[in-house]
Parts: sequence; C-alpha cells; structure tokens
Amino acid sequence: MIGYICKLHAGMKPITRFIFLVFLAFLSGCFPQTPSDPIDKRVDSLLQQMTLQEKIGQMTQICFSEITMGGDKNLVMDPDLFREAIVSNHVGSFLSGTGSAADWADFVYALQRVAIEETRLGIPLLIGIDHVHGANYVDEGTMLPHNITLSCSFDTDMVSMAAKVTAIETADLGMAWNFAPVLDLGKNVYWPRLYETFGEDPMVCGEMGAAFIRTYQDPVHSYPYRLAACAKHFIGYSDPKSGWDRTPAEIPDQIMYEYHMPPFRDAIEAGVLTVMVNSGEVNGVPVHVSERLLQGMLRQELGFDGVLLTDIKDIQKVYEEHHGAFSEKDATLRAIHAGIDVSMACNSYDFIEIMEELVLEGTISEARIDESVRRILRLKFKLGLFDNPYPRKDRPDRIGSEEHLEKATIMAEESIVLLKNENEILPLNNEPARILVTGFAANSKKMLNGAWTLEWLGAEEERQPANMKTLFEAIDDEFPKAQVSLFETCLDGSIDSDIDFLRTCRQNDLIILTMGEEPYSEFRGNISDLNMTGEQKHLARLAAESGTPVIYVLIQGRPRLITGIEPFADAILFAGYPGQGGACAIAGILSGRVNPSGRLSFSYPLYPGHTIPYYHKAFDRAENLYDFGHGLSYSTFEYDNLRISQDSFTNPDTNLTIHFDITNLSDMPGKEVVLGFFRQEKGHITRPVRQLFHFSKVLIDPGETIPVTLTVHPGKTFSYPNKHNEMILEKGVFTIMIGGMEVSLTYL
Ligand code: GLC
Repeated sequence: MIGYICKLHAGMKPITRFIFLVFLAFLSGCFPQTPSDPIDKRVDSLLQQMTLQEKIGQMTQICFSEITMGGDKNLVMDPDLFREAIVSNHVGSFLSGTGSAADWADFVYALQRVAIEETRLGIPLLIGIDHVHGANYVDEGTMLPHNITLSCSFDTDMVSMAAKVTAIETADLGMAWNFAPVLDLGKNVYWPRLYETFGEDPMVCGEMGAAFIRTYQDPVHSYPYRLAACAKHFIGYSDPKSGWDRTPAEIPDQIMYEYHMPPFRDAIEAGVLTVMVNSGEVNGVPVHVSERLLQGMLRQELGFDGVLLTDIKDIQKVYEEHHGAFSEKDATLRAIHAGIDVSMACNSYDFIEIMEELVLEGTISEARIDESVRRILRLKFKLGLFDNPYPRKDRPDRIGSEEHLEKATIMAEESIVLLKNENEILPLNNEPARILVTGFAANSKKMLNGAWTLEWLGAEEERQPANMKTLFEAIDDEFPKAQVSLFETCLDGSIDSDIDFLRTCRQNDLIILTMGEEPYSEFRGNISDLNMTGEQKHLARLAAESGTPVIYVLIQGRPRLITGIEPFADAILFAGYPGQGGACAIAGILSGRVNPSGRLSFSYPLYPGHTIPYYHKAFDRAENLYDFGHGLSYSTFEYDNLRISQDSFTNPDTNLTIHFDITNLSDMPGKEVVLGFFRQEKGHITRPVRQLFHFSKVLIDPGETIPVTLTVHPGKTFSYPNKHNEMILEKGVFTIMIGGMEVSLTYL
C-alpha cells in the first residue's frame, strides 16, 4: 500500500501533491493539531495515533521511589529506571517526592524532557503531589495549618488563602496535580486522618473544600501554569467501624447521601478536575471495585466526568488485602468496569501487563480504554502541559516568602480555639514574671507542623523550616520582660524525676503545658484508646499539684480525652497542627495581641464510649466536654432581636430572610463566628436535633451592634435526601436556632 501511494504521489503536479498530502493527513488523523484547536479535537487527533500500550501507560501512575537512586522520595534520578518507566512502559504520570525547589525543578525537567523528546508521541507527564497543608514537600515551602485547625476558623477566606499560597509555591515546580483537598467527614474521632478533614459537618467540609478547589485551580495564581485539585477519598472512608484507617465501614445509603456525599457534590460543582477513591470497603464492597458508588453515585448521580484516580496500590489491595477479588486480574477488570481512569500502581508494572491481557483477550474493549485515556489527555491539555510542560527556577522568591509566613500565622490566629478561660486568666495582661513552657511540643517545630511535612510522617527537627519559631521561642519573644524557661519532656511524658518537674513548676508563676499527639499518618495513627496518654496526664497532675496556674495547649490531630485533667487547667487552647506560624499565633493569643475567634469544627467527647456528632437524633444525647461550635473570645457578644420575614411558608421556592443583631459588649474588637442551625421537629426519616445551615465570621468593634440578615431558600435548606437520593421536604414545624435564640417556621 505504502509503495502504491509513493508511485501515485511521484507522478503528481505540485498542487495536486499538496492536496493529496492534506487528504492523507486527515485520513490518518495526524493532521497537525495546533494550540488554538478545541481540546477535544486535539485529544481525538492524538488518541487516534496511540497504540494500546501507549494508552495503558497513560492510565498508569508510578511513585518516584520506583525511579530514583535511593528507592525513596528523594529527587535523585536513575536515568535507566525512569527511561524504563517512560519510554519502555509509556507511563504517563508519577507521584510523591521531597526536596528543594531547585531539585524539584531539575528533576521534573529531566522527566518531562525524556517524555517529550524520547517517546514516539511526546505526551507530557502529569506529576502528582500531596500538598495538603502548603507546599509541604518542598524544603522552602510554607507549612500551613492542617485542615482540622483551618476549619476551626469557620472562614472560607482562610481556606482560599491557604489554597492560593499552596498554588503559588507549587506551580513553578512541575507538580500540576495536587491530591487535595480531603473531603471526608471528620465524624469518627478515633480515625487517624481526622486532622486532614475540615471537621464533622458536611456543609463546612463542602464549602471549605469548594473554596480550596476554586482558588487552587484558578490560573491567576499559578500563571503561566494550571493546576488540578483532587477531591479525596470518595466515599465513606472516614467512618470505619473500628476507627482504624482503611478498615471496613458500614454506611447505609441514607447516611451516605445525607452526610458523606454533599462535600463531594460541592467539590464537583466547584469544578474539581479529579477525584481519588477511598481505599476502604463500604458495606462489604471495596470502593475501588464498586460500580454502585463510582459509576452510579459519582459519575451518574453527581455527574463527575473528570479523571478518577485510585489510591496507592489499591487495585492490588482489593485482591491482596480486602480479599475482594479472585485475582489481581479480577480486581483490575472490576476496577475498570467501576470507572477507574488512572491506577496509582506506584511500584509495579503489573497493571500494565494485566490491562494489555484483558484487552487483547477481549474482556475489556479498547473503547473503554479510550474513555479513560480521553479524560487523561483532556486533563493534560486543560492543564496546558502540551504547551508549557517544563518547570522553572527563575522565581524562587515566590516560595517560602515572608508574606506567606505572615499568612500562615494569620490562618493559625483565626483558627486556634480558646476552649476554657477560668477566671479570665487570659489574656495575660499582667505579664507573669516567670513562665515555664513544657510538654512534648514545647520546643519543637515538627510537632506543630504535623505529618505530611517534607516526609510522610513529618521530617525531623533539623529539616523543618528555618524561619519558624517553636512555642518556647515565640513565648520568649512575646513576653520580653518575663523570665521564660523550658522544661523538656517527650511524648511519653517520661521525665527524669517528678520531684524535679514539680520543683520547677513551683519556681514559676505560670505553666504552659503542651500535650497531645506527635505527628502520624494514616494507619500509623491507629489507636484504640482515645484518652490522652497516661504519662501526659501524669504531667498535668504534677503541674496541678504545684499550685502554679497552668494553661494546656493541645497539639493533636483529634480530640484526645482530657476529662480527668480538664479541671486542673486554668485555660485550654486547641491548636490542632497549627503549622509554621502556629507558635506565634498561640503566643499572640496568650498575650492578648490576638483575640481568639476559632470554634470547634468537631465535637470534643467527654467519654471514650460516647462519641457522636452534634447532628445526632432526638432519641439520643451528646455528652461532650466541648460541643461542635464551642470557642471563647476575649470579647463578649450578645445576640438579640431574632426575627424572620414570615413564620410560615407554602412555596418552598420563596426566599425567607432572618434578621438579628449582634453586639460586642467588650472593650476590644473581636471576630464572632455566626452559626445558624435548624431543626425539623418531626420527619418520616428521623431528623437531627441540629443541622448547620449557615456559618460566617464577622468583625465587631467595641460597643458596636451590627444587624445581620440571612437569606434562606426553604426548598434547598430544609429538604433532605432519602436513601434513593430523592430530596424530601416535609410539611411541618422547623425551629431556627441562632446565638441562643430560637424562632419557629411552619411549612403549610
Ligand atoms: C496515600 C493517601 C492519599 C495520598 C496518596 C498519595 O495512601 O491515602 O491521601 O494522596 O497515598 O500519597
């Protein structure tokens, strides 16, 4: 055929030859596509040229540890290994590394150059990273508060600020795919990934997740690059029966639709480009092979048509760990049928071999492969990778700037929660003469930044950011006239001698006692006892015995119980993992330079056996040490004059307005978190005693009264899904609760 075409071509006049070549090009589909062509045209043009092996390679994501010299995340490339991945196996995506900005840029440049110049079609790579609290895998990156801390700000502007800082510090380094935000509900207080969530409320999770996604994917911040966020981990990951990471969950569809799905719906409405799947199993089916949850709920009901990525090695794990398949090939087939596009195979090429076998034997059609590859190529085109694939090193000042550190500090200041303030010991207006700072996080950067900081479990102290203060250093700076001393302890609370500690406590006028949890990640944080460790409680008792006033600072990923020692504290702060600006934020709150405005985004239990979220049913009762939404300020806010535009409605599509006033009775400006709850008094599917329908934060000057008006769409606000995801609005009485006031509303 080729010979015939050549003879034909030789005998042609120039103009005829040109027309003939253009015709041929169209036939072969390789008509040169240009950046101005519509993305789908460019995708189709490229897809037509791809071999089956090249297509399957695009569906494969390999860990950097598989192609680096050290077999770890360090960015020291092994040219043979990564040519084997990119050229021989056509791998289209990699993930997870750690190093300096320059090393990142050099490493990704080298990878992209091989992909673009040494492969047949030159398809650029998509590099994935977990920048979940700032550019946390870049040495110079600004380490932001983790989500559980940030969510206590109840301010989506803080989340947008975090997303912007992260985008700016990530974009130049070639990591176009960020596996963030986590949209799992933080409702199981034993779950070791609670600190990665935006708390227990679906509305807070959804609105904060959407704020992150919109900002992170906005090219204004990452110009000239574009970035993809990733809503994870779809779905039902955060409520395992045992509380242990990745263990089975039993979640009825009713609960799934009412609580776990809304944050992902909000993420998809916000335009999230990718979704990562839950590693666990729900109701006996590993989610990675659940057509019901992936094809059904995610693709059909929620309308997600972006790239669906597995979590790490999770197709293999369906067979090897969940025992939910008869072979890895069976697991692969079912994952593809369920709608997976990319396998985070990490350190194995088995996926490629199995996929080729499945297609060549006809079990999976090439058309199904094309569906996924089309989504992957569309994402790469959307991210501009074909037109601007290479990282850059000419703007290093964008990473780790003073401006970003200031923003990290503001985020922490807005998020840290003042849980207790006995006799208003805080703020420390009269600077104590002698302050003792102690506990496991007293003089540590690592403890404040938490996990996912340069290493999965958090890097050692020497690798933590240089421009960061420990709590001891920050308090020493904040109270220049005081004698601030340090009594080092470690997490297990073991100290040389109780007497020594007791004596030291007695020699001071105030004790700042840090307690909580050292960094952990995923299954490494599994616990079966929610209590604060015995050693730390022992320290608290000794501090109490000294008779010196003591302030607890809780540095932890979840609400470890302090029931027995809470009475000994004069004041208590919850900081979660507050990040690089955390110490300065805590010091500012202690001194009064910062008026605390954080509120708990989760319920803080009183007992280990009674840990239910605030949205429990009427025939239940929450017994918490501190409730969802709890948090103190140095200001006193008074709510008054709650009224509603009408006390009944017949048309659910007619907006209502709710009005009330808030007065700042104190002599210092303060920020108040406004939380609007409602309760449907009766329902054929029993209703929660409270459900959040509004949150916002307002600054109120001393003595000022501000009027607040909320607009409510009854149909959207008061309806709820049944187990078929059909929205239900039942006639009857609704009670609106704001600032300790209530008003009734009836749907006639
Ligand atoms: C981990 C986590 C996931 C992360 C991925 C890549 O196992 O479950 O959140 O994005 O692997 O690091």
